[in-house]
Parts: sequence; C-alpha cells; structure tokens
Amino acid sequence: MNPNWDDETLYQEARAIVAAQLQHIVFNEWLPVLLGPEAMNTLGLNLMPSGRYHRYDAKVNAGLANEFSAAAFRVGHTMATRVYTRLSGAHQPLPGIRLSNTFFKANEIYKVGMLDEVLCGMMDQSGKIVENSATTELSQHLFPSNGTALFGMDLISINIQRGRDHGLPAYMNWRKLCDLSTADKFAGLKGLRVFPDYD
Ligand code: HEM
Repeated sequence: MNPNWDDETLYQEARAIVAAQLQHIVFNEWLPVLLGPEAMNTLGLNLMPSGRYHRYDAKVNAGLANEFSAAAFRVGHTMATRVYTRLSGAHQPLPGIRLSNTFFKANEIYKVGMLDEVLCGMMDQSGKIVENSATTELSQHLFPSNGTALFGMDLISINIQRGRDHGLPAYMNWRKLCDLSTADKFAGLKGLRVFPDYD
C-alpha cells in the first residue's frame, strides 16, 4: 500500500498496529475476565464503543507499585496449564506439550507446522482459572537443570521469597490499606472477603 515508506516507517507503523491489537485484546477481553465488570467500570478501563481516547496524560507516572510486580500480578502464575494442547491443520488433537518441557526451548516453535498447531491448541483449550494453587509444572518442575523435567525449582516459593526480598508489607497490612477486614489468627482467615466493594 505504501511502497514509498522506508524500512523504519514500515517497522514503526507495523509496531503501532501490533501494539494496538495487543492492547485491544488486553482491555477488551483479558482484563474484564481477570477483574470483573465492577472493577472495570470503577477504574474506567472499559473501551469506548467508538471514537478515540483523548485523555492521555504524559505526566502520569507509569511506574508500577513494587507490590504489584513483586507480588500481586504474579497471580498469573496460577493461570498456567500443565499441558498445552496442539491441534493439526484439520483440527485433530496431537500430543500436547508439557509446560516443563518448553522452558528455554523457544526454537521448538520454528519446527514446521508447530506455530499453527500451538496457536490452534490455544484457541481450543480453556485458560486455567485464577485460584490459590498453581500447577506442579511451576511449583516442582520450574527450569529443571538436568533437562529431564524430574526436578526443578518452585516458582511459588520464589514469589514468596521475592516479596520478602523486596520488603513488601504483610498481606494484612495491605488489606487494612484497602479498607478490607483483617485477621490475626489462622481461624480468622476463613470468610475474609477477597475483593473490596466498589461502592
Ligand atoms: C509458563 C508461565 C510462566 C512462567 C514459567 C513464569 C516464570 C516466572 C519467573 C521465573 C519469574 C521470576 C521470579 C523471581 O525470580 O522473582 C516470574 C516473574 C513474574 N511473573 Fe511469571 N511466569 C509465567 C507466567 C506469568 C503470567 C501469566 C503472569 C501474569 C499474568 C506472570 C507475572 C509475573 C510477574 C508480574 C513477575 C515479576 C516481574 C518483575 O518483577 O519484573 N507470569 N515469572
């Protein structure tokens, strides 16, 4: 369409389109599932049905809270699946791929047909729900050193250690800050609300 564009312009234009597509998926599909409709409304995250967003503010500090990256957003670790489905071009099931067999093996995706098979598998397979446990692929078989996937590290322990390493305040301190109820005994943990009311 634009044979006059030089390679830099082509790259920047393509980059802008891919970033926009990614943002659209994140805001339109992923965040509503992760946060729920109430939080989406309260935080003003819903996409506009039409038009352009004009409230971009270059002065907003886009830095992340330490608590978010060192702890909260690692919630994604509970969403990883033990085995990833693969489907053939005719959408027939192929042997799935065990997560711990994929670590540091990015080249596998370049095998003939593999990218399509993995993408079709991802379209077919439901995501794992967010919950209070993670697959043993991450909690027992993270980055196995001998390549046999027999022994690996425990990402969930690393998450907890990383919170201490970063000096994050305890969970109950955060609940107080968010006006949520707290507990000082294990028995009190039962029935604690996980999310605040956004009213
Ligand atoms: C197969 C899936 C995944 C693997 C193997 C993985 C592995 C890891 C590892 C090894 C770390 C560094 C841990 C440390 O040393 O403290 C990490 C950090 C992190 N992960 Fe994951 N992760 C996965 C998926 C996800 C997902 C789905 C999310 C969120 C949606 C996520 C969010 C994070 C965040 C926020 C950090 C901290 C980043 C930082 O502080 O710079 N991860 N992950």
